Amino acid sequence: MTAPLAVRDLKKHYGGVQALRGVSLDIEAGEVLGLVGDNGAGKSTLLKVLCGATFASSGEVLLDGQPARFANPAAAQDAGVATVYQDLALAGQRDVVANFFLGREKLAGNWLARRAGWLDSKAMAAHTVSELARLRTRIPDVHLASRDLSGGQRQALAIARAVAWTSKVLLLDEPTSALGVEQQQQVLDLIRRVSGEGIAVLLISHQMPDVLRVCDRAVVLRLGLVAATLSGADLTSENLIGYITGAMEGREQ
Ligand SMILES: Nc1ncnc2c1ncn2[C@@H]1O[C@H](COP(=O)(O)OP(=O)(O)O)[C@@H](O)[C@H]1O
Ligand SMILES: [Mg+2]
Repeated sequence: MTAPLAVRDLKKHYGGVQALRGVSLDIEAGEVLGLVGDNGAGKSTLLKVLCGATFASSGEVLLDGQPARFANPAAAQDAGVATVYQDLALAGQRDVVANFFLGREKLAGNWLARRAGWLDSKAMAAHTVSELARLRTRIPDVHLASRDLSGGQRQALAIARAVAWTSKVLLLDEPTSALGVEQQQQVLDLIRRVSGEGIAVLLISHQMPDVLRVCDRAVVLRLGLVAATLSGADLTSENLIGYITGAMEGREQ
């Protein structure tokens, strides 16, 4: 089966800095693929290329096997590749419903936006409630301002919003880093439910327990290259840390 999203020999330099030096990987439907690596390994750069925030210097992004070049994150989202950034991009003073529909102006052709008739606030609230319920997100009141939600609820809202409008790929940058333990668990459970719907999920995380708990496979980036792809019995904290730090360099996988 063709992976929903793949990259082939991706290179990206910023002036003389080689942030990506030839990265190839596939994100499969229904899996959570971890992306780990030390600071400066190239994780954010890879995410930016995948979501259309920047262009690669060379190499290919493949969407369902076809070369894709997203002009910007909105184009990527239209093509089914949604991203939740670390800052979540929520409007704090606006309520959950308004945030859920934020930016949908661009997607007026989208069936969900059409069906919600998105000037109809009752219909918008009903859709928000049903989408949040579908993913069993714990947000008690959709008329709360997003700044009055807990960190975990905000993260859940950002994820639910992203996947409500997309069907293929979800890219997540450190979704649990600012959360307490219980909220981390809830967000990880939500990520599993998203992948359970057949969406391909890429999870950037430096929290090894999260990676072990939620990822089917993990790619370790080191100095702009894939140092290892770990799965099954090889997906251990020891191996992850070994490849992240370079201690396992040259070791057969
Ligand atoms: N906009 C930029 N301009 C110049 N150098 C950059 C830029 N973004 C990232 N870099 C460099 O590219 C390398 C990879 O960075 P990044 O992708 O942010 O790594 P990570 O997310 O794994 O910490 C680093 O050396 C970083 O300094
Ligand atoms: Mg980064």
